[in-house]
Amino acid sequence: MKKLKIGIIGNGGISGIHARAYSAIADRAEIYALCDINRERSLSMAKRLGVPEERVFTDVHQMVKLSEIDAVDVCTWNCAHAECSIAALEAGKNVLCEKPMAMNADQAKKMKETAERCGKHLQIGFVRRYGNDMEVLKNLDREGFFGEIYYAKVNYTRRNGSPGGWYSDAARSGGGPLIDLGVHVIDYSRYLMGNHRPVSVYGVTFEKLGNRPKIKKAGGYSASDAGKSDVFNVEDLAVGMIRFDNGSVISIDAAYSLNQREDKGDMEFFGTRGGAKVTNSVELFSSQSGYMTNTVLDYPTDFDFNGAFASEIRHFVDCITVPGTECIAPAEDGVVLMQILDGLYESARTGHEVEIR
Ligand SMILES: NC(=O)c1ccc[n+]([C@@H]2O[C@H](COP(=O)([O-])OP(=O)(O)OC[C@H]3O[C@@H](n4cnc5c(N)ncnc54)[C@H](O)[C@@H]3O)[C@@H](O)[C@H]2O)c1
Repeated sequence: MKKLKIGIIGNGGISGIHARAYSAIADRAEIYALCDINRERSLSMAKRLGVPEERVFTDVHQMVKLSEIDAVDVCTWNCAHAECSIAALEAGKNVLCEKPMAMNADQAKKMKETAERCGKHLQIGFVRRYGNDMEVLKNLDREGFFGEIYYAKVNYTRRNGSPGGWYSDAARSGGGPLIDLGVHVIDYSRYLMGNHRPVSVYGVTFEKLGNRPKIKKAGGYSASDAGKSDVFNVEDLAVGMIRFDNGSVISIDAAYSLNQREDKGDMEFFGTRGGAKVTNSVELFSSQSGYMTNTVLDYPTDFDFNGAFASEIRHFVDCITVPGTECIAPAEDGVVLMQILDGLYESARTGHEVEIR
């Protein structure tokens, strides 16, 4: 089988995790070219990966001219996802684009339309779809454990964890914890609950704590290498309700900073027959022989960060090289997620429920 040649655009924090995942399947894919507006970053990555300097670019439009490249992996700031993906698709490359798909639903739709027009594969980096915990929950659901899941309560809140840098600059990120963290848990629950169509949302955002400095011994999240920025013009807390066409609802809390005891990443699912709570483990709530039962799975269900990325990248390569592979995280789901996020931000701005069409 032909070895895929990959170009990675955006050579910062997450691209290193992607690169490691490609290295794990070195017989099927190789990192052929790199691109970052910050040349030093790409050069140091190129040195680590053994990519020659003549294949290091600062302009995506130049990189995608390389006819040898089969696929492009977009790991830039959110504001460049659409431009880089569209440039790559139009140059005939397949694309994996990190989450969130874009800055808004209009950009996301253009990306999807471009992929369709150019007949290329566009996959979105919804990495939580590939975790052990998701596999377990999907299997349980298939076996009828939950009955109908009609409500999910998902929480991705940090006590003192604004990443700062471009993440807190709306022009580059598109928003705060809702678009950065909320996207993971909203997608996770929507995917588990059957990918229903959202019909309306209600959201509220707060800007109370901003980029507050790290407090000694606060524990929890520590800032990434997102660069320095004096700007903090995104929300620090977002809460919302999302209603779907089958009547199910997701309630979401996402925060960079919140005066609570510790960082949280809880997702609770409530079905007509059983329920589940996903933290670092999966706990199930059900009943048996007339008794209420709580069960903790004796199976590795903590989210394996590197393992999930390895599965995501392997799946990307499969989608391109193995005929008939059905994409686990297609562009269509990225568009729907952006519609939900746009609606929540609009609702927060206007104070009203927003319909999603
Ligand atoms: N799936 C996950 O769990 C996960 C985790 C972290 C980040 N991410 C996503 O990955 C993306 C990158 O995040 P990060 O933490 O690695 O950020 P980062 O700042 O560490 O790296 C991003 C890089 O993109 C470069 N860049 C920006 N615009 C560019 C352009 N037009 N062309 C070429 N390069 C450009 C920047 O110079 C920077 O080096 C974001 O979209 C983020 O949401 C996903």
